Amino acid sequence: MKTKIINLTAAFTFVIFASCKNETKSSGADTDQKEYMGKEIGTKFDKEIDKLVAQMTLEEKVGMLHGNSMFTTAGVERLGIPELRMADGPLGVREEISRDSWKPAGLTNDFATYYPAAGALAATWDTEMGYLFGSSVGEEMRARDKDMLLSPAINIIRTPLGGRTYEYMTEDPFLNKKFAVPLVVGLQDNDVMACVKHFAANNQETNRDYVDVQIDERTLREIYLPAFEATVKEGKAYAMMGAYNKFRGEYLCENDYMLNKILRDEWGFEGVVVSDWAAVHTTVKSLQSGLDIEMGTTKPFNEFFLADKLIAAVKNKEISEAEIDKHVKRILRVLFQVKAMGGKDRVKGSIATEAHYQDAYKIAAEAIVLLKNEKNALPLKLDGVKSIAVIGNNATKKNALGGFGAGVKTKREVTPLEGLKNRLPASVKINYAEGYLERYDLSNRGNLGNITAEGPVTIDKLDPAKLQEALEAAKNSDVAVIFAGSNRDYETEASDRRDLKLPFAQEELIEKVLAVNPNTIVVMVAGAPFDIDAVTQKASAVVWTWFNGSEGGNALADVLLGKVNPSGKLPWTMPKKLADSPAHATNSFPGDKVVKYEEGILVGYRWFDTKNVAPLFPFGYGLSYTTFAVDNAKADKAAYAENETISVTVEVKNTGKVDGKEVIQLYSSKSDSKVSRASKELKGFKKVLVKSGSTETVTIKVPVKELAYYDVTSKKWTVEPGKYTFKIGTSSRDIKKEIAVTIK
Ligand code: BGC
Repeated sequence: MKTKIINLTAAFTFVIFASCKNETKSSGADTDQKEYMGKEIGTKFDKEIDKLVAQMTLEEKVGMLHGNSMFTTAGVERLGIPELRMADGPLGVREEISRDSWKPAGLTNDFATYYPAAGALAATWDTEMGYLFGSSVGEEMRARDKDMLLSPAINIIRTPLGGRTYEYMTEDPFLNKKFAVPLVVGLQDNDVMACVKHFAANNQETNRDYVDVQIDERTLREIYLPAFEATVKEGKAYAMMGAYNKFRGEYLCENDYMLNKILRDEWGFEGVVVSDWAAVHTTVKSLQSGLDIEMGTTKPFNEFFLADKLIAAVKNKEISEAEIDKHVKRILRVLFQVKAMGGKDRVKGSIATEAHYQDAYKIAAEAIVLLKNEKNALPLKLDGVKSIAVIGNNATKKNALGGFGAGVKTKREVTPLEGLKNRLPASVKINYAEGYLERYDLSNRGNLGNITAEGPVTIDKLDPAKLQEALEAAKNSDVAVIFAGSNRDYETEASDRRDLKLPFAQEELIEKVLAVNPNTIVVMVAGAPFDIDAVTQKASAVVWTWFNGSEGGNALADVLLGKVNPSGKLPWTMPKKLADSPAHATNSFPGDKVVKYEEGILVGYRWFDTKNVAPLFPFGYGLSYTTFAVDNAKADKAAYAENETISVTVEVKNTGKVDGKEVIQLYSSKSDSKVSRASKELKGFKKVLVKSGSTETVTIKVPVKELAYYDVTSKKWTVEPGKYTFKIGTSSRDIKKEIAVTIK
């Protein structure tokens, strides 16, 4: 990977990254958003596949349709068909699990790179990072000899309480698809299948095993499905994971409407549908509704719904053998596609290499969001600084493991404290204090790893000795940095959080530290929104970092010290309070047996902007150490036909003293629409590097079809003619220019 270091001023050195792997995929000028397109599943092996299937026994065929271990399905050795080998997950290749239990296999060669979580990836607002992420993980998958990554996880963030918010990307369907597609393409370019999950309408952990999600058709199409659709139509994803819950009364792994009608018939999906683990409830119905592979938990694998029961169903003529063949052929096709069969030059891959750690660093550095920076408190100026207090359990907490399928076993996880130690000159003394204790009340839970409907209960009380230590460190240091937020035990799969409060009495700690040293920076390490209203009002600088991968601590130190100018933008809205968020304002979370998404299309900023509710920090928000002026926005024409693409250009001037990157965001709005619409919807964006004092012209292309709404009567995406207003800005609430375009 090429890395250019450009010396700018005496004060700062910024690291600017040059892309390399996807250079050939550029669609044009540097300021254009790159487009990514995957490879179709080929048909050239079909004859060979037919021959293989003709030689297989019913038992051998059925063996391919269900787990024969925790993460494999059976092959047929005598015919040269290998096992299909899967691995989690969204933050990097998960450690090897035992074949028949959830226990780690205890290997020493399954260490991997821990990549920034999906929320961080989306916060880069640089889709090349999506490709980089996919291709880097793809190489690691191949080094572990795997065929299918159980990722990307692209469910829409409907509630800020979601336990898996950090695993998912965003609340916005457009941003979601713009990252999901390059990730899938990058992964599959390395002879690995992406298994896009969790299809679909799986937006909460509470009652996920049975809750019946009710979403009106337009909302389903406009908010919850676009990224899945794009991974099929553009990314050409080879696999899709059916979710746990029900949708309109049917479990998603036996949902004919979702799996057969939408996924296959409408979108032309040709890959395989894999169940989430133990998400299958029937035999014949599941298979006929579009499921191909049942994966599950630890019970004897032959007792799965698609195992002995399926053999019996064929023998009883409840289902034909031809139907079984159809599913087996789909699996064989994707095995050929990734060269697990038939190919000679399959990618060999590499794992936990320095190059991959640097990939993780690049994403991490682009993802960090500067939320507040009064009086230029950041970057830290070291002139005359002899000591820095580093306070908070999160300064040393490691986050690679945890969260079930999203855990990664890694040899490198640079913590925030280690990052500062690596980057600060030896002359600066670090006074570390843990500050708050990570403590839970487990009386109703047993241990943290237990799957429960509700999130962990935290003990929100400061330990007097720890508090004293933190106050002493803050008092005796020139500057203090508090590392607050959450962790992967608190934000986790299988339960949603109970509220937005900062756990472990961190707010009290922050207030007390600020009182003894006003020169205190707050760094949030977290993957989901928290109520940091009071903290933000009191602290002069607030930085948001994520579960930010192996190199997260180094990237963070580089931002704090000004080597990297922050350029991340929030991929979701940070509400002032929970009740402001749409699912909560409409009292439609979490439901019990049924959850009805009452807010409809008004998810995330669509709700806040349409209902005029002020967020704490809006979608798309993030500051820089420089300032930008946005000017001269224009469209290339005044009027467009439905099959055309609108090209909008805008000038971005860096009006500050250091180089920096800005994300130009284009939202469309149609005030005279005949259907109800959100006040604005993201339709394009571009991250651009602008040198201090320079101006760059950014081009954002908007295909007119992106302006369509889903018409439930005609069941078609429909572009209304007439006037649209494009709002161009640097967050959903910071609109700098408006232009009008007409659709003929
Ligand atoms: C999760 C999936 C994961 C699977 C295998 C399930 O509980 O929902 O995302 O891939 O486990 O670990």
